[in-house]
Amino acid sequence: MKQLANKQILLGITGSIAAYKACELVRLLRDSGSDVRVVMTQAATEFVSPLTFQALSQNPVHRTLLDETAEAAMGHIELARWADAVVIAPASADSIARLAQGRADDLLGAVCLATPAPVAIAPAMNQQMWLDTATQENIALLQKRGLHILGPATGDQACGDVGPGRMLEPQIIREQIAGLFETGALAGLTVVITAGPTHEPIDPVRFISNYSSGRMGYALAEAVVEAGARCILISGPTHLPIPYKVQRVDVQTAQQMHTAVMEEMSNCNIFIAAAAVADYRPAETSTQKIKKDQQQLRLELVRNPDILQDVTGSHPEVFAVGFAAESGSVEHYATQKLSQKKLRIIIANDISRTDIGFDSPDNEVVVYWQGGSKQLPKASKPQIARQLAAMIADHYNESQ
Ligand SMILES: Cc1cc2nc3c(=O)[nH]c(=O)nc-3n(C[C@H](O)[C@H](O)[C@H](O)COP(=O)(O)O)c2cc1C
Repeated sequence: MKQLANKQILLGITGSIAAYKACELVRLLRDSGSDVRVVMTQAATEFVSPLTFQALSQNPVHRTLLDETAEAAMGHIELARWADAVVIAPASADSIARLAQGRADDLLGAVCLATPAPVAIAPAMNQQMWLDTATQENIALLQKRGLHILGPATGDQACGDVGPGRMLEPQIIREQIAGLFETGALAGLTVVITAGPTHEPIDPVRFISNYSSGRMGYALAEAVVEAGARCILISGPTHLPIPYKVQRVDVQTAQQMHTAVMEEMSNCNIFIAAAAVADYRPAETSTQKIKKDQQQLRLELVRNPDILQDVTGSHPEVFAVGFAAESGSVEHYATQKLSQKKLRIIIANDISRTDIGFDSPDNEVVVYWQGGSKQLPKASKPQIARQLAAMIADHYNESQ
């Protein structure tokens, strides 16, 4: 299940007899490539030992909110930010009532309020408890607030009753969690993304380049595919694997990237320029390796084509998104680039910070458009990419 590869799933377990089925769910999620962290309510620990979930998830199990040691390390806000999705399975009637009230008096409740990630719950309870008006009203309220309700199934129950309220089987929950990442916001659209650095050859063994790892562009490619787009990723040299369902075109130089991008523009709806394209290239490339027989060596550099400028100039119908990697006056340069290059959106990050940006797993960006901006707080590049894909989809749809 490719959608779950490298996803960070926070699994909440509450006090239901179905807690034993969550053991299988943890195993299935890990088999799909997800990293799983478990949060248990006090009642849940009466049903299955935390040690079981620790062994299955290969991560410590989180149980208490008011815990000094935990708050010094992976505290409740960090856990909430860490999650790509929060899934409560099983979700007891009581935990559903607390969620509906927006309570934060236990770790799971606090995490659900503090997370920007989608929250899904798989109810599990006796059929009379499920059908009770209180539960039904709580569920309707949570649904209205955008929580995803998975199930429940109908059938034989642990108490001997038959009816609705059984927790869905773990493999079905896994499929529905995978579905959380498929938003469909970019369905039917073609998105062309550039990523990585370019290599500008000096001679057969040397080149000019930069520190770009390509991670942000690759994460965006994954995110737009999850959002339903067809994605063409025009990539400079990186060590990253081709993301699922992405069509990758490999290039080395800025000129090759320019040609490859222009070839795709007539069938492109959205162009995202995430590559760190070299502004200059050596005026000449030596066909022989340059020997070190001179004390000084002068390289003459010439300007490379400006890919983004050429896209907006020749294809104004394409929704063009740029990146501004700046080391100072970020807002000034980003907004200047937005209007000069006639972009619809520009995503700015401060590369003078060592904890984000180039070659780092995390990023923190400010998104600018004509008349507005939004800050996306520090998060992993895949998390930032999913938020960007959603914002780009919203702005694209508004522009049509
Ligand atoms: C043996 C047993 C099984 C239970 N099974 C369920 C259940 O499947 N669903 C449910 O909503 N509550 C069930 N309960 C009641 C909950 O455990 C109880 O409401 C508890 O307060 C839930 O706590 P929590 O939501 O903090 O995990 C069960 C209680 C017992 C004693």
